[in-house]
Amino acid sequence: MPVINTVFDRTTVKQLVFLFTSAFATAALKQLRSVIVPNTVLKSLLSPRSEAVVAATAGVVATNAEKITARFYPRMFAEHPELLRLFNQGNQANGEQSRALASSVVAYAVQLIDPDAPSFDHVMKRIAHKHLSLGIRPDQYTIVGHHLLAAVGEVLGDAVTPEIATAWDEVYWLFATQLIAEEARLYQQAGVDPARPLRPYRVVRRIEETHDVVSLVLEPADGDVLPDISPGQYVSVFVDLPDGSRQPRQYTVSSTALGTRLQITISRLKGTNGAPDGQVSSFLHDQAAIGDLLDVSAPAGDFVVGSSNGPLLLASAGAGITTVLPIVELIARTQPQRKVIVAHADRTSQDHALRDTVLAVGRQIDDFTAYTWYETLDDTDQHSKKGFMNLSELPLGDDVQVFTCGPLPFMRHVRSSLLERGVPASRIRYEVFGPDLWEV
Ligand SMILES: Cc1cc2nc3c(=O)[nH]c(=O)nc-3n(C[C@H](O)[C@H](O)[C@H](O)COP(=O)(O)OP(=O)(O)OC[C@H]3O[C@@H](n4cnc5c(N)ncnc54)[C@H](O)[C@@H]3O)c2cc1C
Ligand code: HEM
Repeated sequence: MPVINTVFDRTTVKQLVFLFTSAFATAALKQLRSVIVPNTVLKSLLSPRSEAVVAATAGVVATNAEKITARFYPRMFAEHPELLRLFNQGNQANGEQSRALASSVVAYAVQLIDPDAPSFDHVMKRIAHKHLSLGIRPDQYTIVGHHLLAAVGEVLGDAVTPEIATAWDEVYWLFATQLIAEEARLYQQAGVDPARPLRPYRVVRRIEETHDVVSLVLEPADGDVLPDISPGQYVSVFVDLPDGSRQPRQYTVSSTALGTRLQITISRLKGTNGAPDGQVSSFLHDQAAIGDLLDVSAPAGDFVVGSSNGPLLLASAGAGITTVLPIVELIARTQPQRKVIVAHADRTSQDHALRDTVLAVGRQIDDFTAYTWYETLDDTDQHSKKGFMNLSELPLGDDVQVFTCGPLPFMRHVRSSLLERGVPASRIRYEVFGPDLWEV
């Protein structure tokens, strides 16, 4: 039995957290590509006593997971109102963050008791990158753990024996330790101190791309250089709203080809069926003016293209186009011989932001093809198709790598049509513009 099974307790976890976050360890972490523990090792980390308890109670926790996380957030915010400024209150109102947290904890527990469970690495990476962009610190895990486990007790009541509480505490801290370690590595790599995760950027240009989409070109206002940005990554932008609240949102860096500047492109979110308009997107559309300062995080996210030579399909819809331009720029700059197909779906050609820029940069790529689908097609448009994206006849190539970004139903459609065409799931990457509910 691995030693860690016999000694794993809160003290060990605290020691591990200290180890991962000490200056010595973080310097070493910088060299590593990932510190996420693989499935096979993960199972051996849970103590045998807790494994049996988690196996016996995972079902009931899963059934009540959303009830638990729905209780968790209000009780945590009541005691720590300062955290309201870190959490997207739109995702609180529509329940998406609650569902994302619930499903991640359940999926993690399943990993611990079932070695054949599908790999969880991509979820861990996504959470760690999101946390990096928000400046989440190791000490905050104690607050989250306390309120999450208290919420389990509130929802399940007397059914939670001390043995069950201990087992789930262990699950939480295993999850937390791994995230803290991966985040320590990401902070080191980005050269970011989690105590000061944001930098001021000045708005130096506004480009009205379409009626509902604006690009903001931003320049660091602290006189320092731009951070390294991998095309496809996003930043968190924190804004002070007129009602006095402060809120972060993530925006993809829509161009990394502007030298000392970066660009973000924001689609205005209109409320439907009685829901309010989007807070931050409306604020940036209506208020962000040249000369204004915005607090911006380090770039984060692993929706990035590797350097293989295989053909690329970039399939986007609506605001998802913001991930396409930086990737096309990257290929034009570094691998112009690589085959690239861009496929985009939108409501109309007037709503299709960044189209001309993508086409202009695409002309620098030897084998570049663009396809468009619009729900409403202009009579004069000879090049686009009407209706939903149809990938069945595109000349993809056997080893195509797919990057897709857009609303979830769109990406599900893309994925299933490509799986039908024999593209392996492992070659299809996606980016969700909200909490990742893909697997919920
Ligand atoms: C990795 C990533 C990259 C992204 N990149 C981009 C990008 O490049 N460009 C871009 O435009 N966006 C991008 N986004 C999305 C962006 O972060 C914001 O989510 C988007 O701008 C909407 O924010 P908002 O504040 O305007 O809307 P919010 O105010 O957060 O509202 C979000 C939704 O919640 C609903 N809602 C809010 N309050 C309530 C309520 N009380 N009851 C019911 N419903 C409610 C709203 O109606 C709306 O539908 C990205 C997101 C992620 C995670
Ligand atoms: C083991 C502990 C934790 C787990 C399992 C967890 C899980 C998650 C998940 C699944 C997401 C959504 C990621 C996505 O966008 O797809 C998320 C986002 C987030 N997490 Fe955590 N988290 C943990 C700890 C923390 C801590 C300690 C904090 C600090 C207070 C924190 C703050 C946030 C914030 C602010 C977001 C963004 C929420 C939003 O935009 O709506 N998390 N986390």
